[in-house]
Amino acid sequence: MFKLFKVVQRELSWGRHHFNATVIARPFRDINDVTATRLNTRSPWTRKFSTHLREMVKAKKYVVVSHFVNEAKPTDLKLVEEELPPLKNGEYLVEAEYFSVDPYMRPYVQRFPLGITMIGGQIAKIIQSKNPDFPVGKKIVASLGWRTHTIVNPNVVDDTALQQPYILPDIGDLPASLGLGVLGMPGNTAYFGLMEICKPKPGETIVITGAAGAVGSHVGQIAKNLGLTVIGICGSDEKCKWLTEELGFDSAINYKTMPIAASIRKAAPHGVDCYFDNVGGEISSTVMYQMRQFGRVAVCGSISSYDADASSLPKCGILQPTIVFNQLKIEGFVVTRWNDRWNEGIMQNLRLIREGKLHYRETVTKGFENMFDAFMGMLRGENIGKAIVQA
Ligand SMILES: NC(=O)c1ccc[n+]([C@@H]2O[C@H](COP(=O)([O-])OP(=O)(O)OC[C@H]3O[C@@H](n4cnc5c(N)ncnc54)[C@H](OP(=O)(O)O)[C@@H]3O)[C@@H](O)[C@H]2O)c1
Repeated sequence: MFKLFKVVQRELSWGRHHFNATVIARPFRDINDVTATRLNTRSPWTRKFSTHLREMVKAKKYVVVSHFVNEAKPTDLKLVEEELPPLKNGEYLVEAEYFSVDPYMRPYVQRFPLGITMIGGQIAKIIQSKNPDFPVGKKIVASLGWRTHTIVNPNVVDDTALQQPYILPDIGDLPASLGLGVLGMPGNTAYFGLMEICKPKPGETIVITGAAGAVGSHVGQIAKNLGLTVIGICGSDEKCKWLTEELGFDSAINYKTMPIAASIRKAAPHGVDCYFDNVGGEISSTVMYQMRQFGRVAVCGSISSYDADASSLPKCGILQPTIVFNQLKIEGFVVTRWNDRWNEGIMQNLRLIREGKLHYRETVTKGFENMFDAFMGMLRGENIGKAIVQA
């Protein structure tokens, strides 16, 4: 009934490749009732006879059968199989290689009717094409949801998708999975959110919550490169150690064991200029009361509320005194605001990686059948850096 699978911590940086292979074992549900036919695109036989085999491609996908209430349950999703039709002109067929599990999926999926494929981004390889702009062999970054194989028609807009699919930029010998993390949506969130909303200046102090996650760990490193004092808040001593000993954060606060206000005052006696807010709730209110004159707050996310029923959220805390008397500027943002500058963000972050100024880490779960566990693990804080599922 239960099997074990591996979560591999993969940490690399340009010119200094090293693997930190912490292996975490945890149980997952048996899905032996699903028997998918997987197209082996690497086999020469498959390539030669791909037109024939094409008609046999079956996709596995997770369908949303119940809206999440509080913590998502495995039974809210159903793993099903569907046979894909032949390609029409203009279409191409992709096979997923990596999936992203992100916090936004938890609240965002609630907007859509039951029966949709669970939302999410993936890196996928083009294995058949009737579209010259998307040739066989190229990889795409696409919001195709939790499904193994997909026929994409670039002229059809999927309402559940964050963006239209695009070809993964040339990132040399770096892993393609980075297109879902440091060189993709979370990386651009860090870059644009910090630069455009916080507008950091050398010598200032920034606090980042969710600091050991995909976005937070990235924000802290850019801020450090710019000459700020960087304070990270996260949920374990192991994460704090990673931030200070490997990423160069000036200090890190474990919000589960340390007093937040006193710890910030100790690390930043003159107060906080910028706050990059990934979590919301009590932690954020506490940080905002530590801010100084003309501080800027980038409200990126509020993961502390994602599992809550909106009608049962606490009545608001009183933040107005600090906002008024410290003359704070607080701005929410969604990264797609900078869709027209998307490639700029990717290239900036790629440059920092190549210069050794930006380190990344991935928590990789293996197996499409473990999507749900990887998703829940990320929401519960089991990831360090970007949470990824390898197909
Ligand atoms: N605005 C945008 O366009 C945009 C784009 C991307 C992401 N985001 C937001 O940015 C935030 C971070 O996203 P990410 O992809 O980088 O995820 P992530 O930080 O890699 O993973 C989520 C982390 O949230 C922390 N967490 C979970 N519950 C928490 C709670 N109750 N209080 C405090 N921390 C909690 C956990 O770490 P701990 O061990 O530290 O608790 C967990 O590892 C999310 O809020 C997300 O929605 C916004």
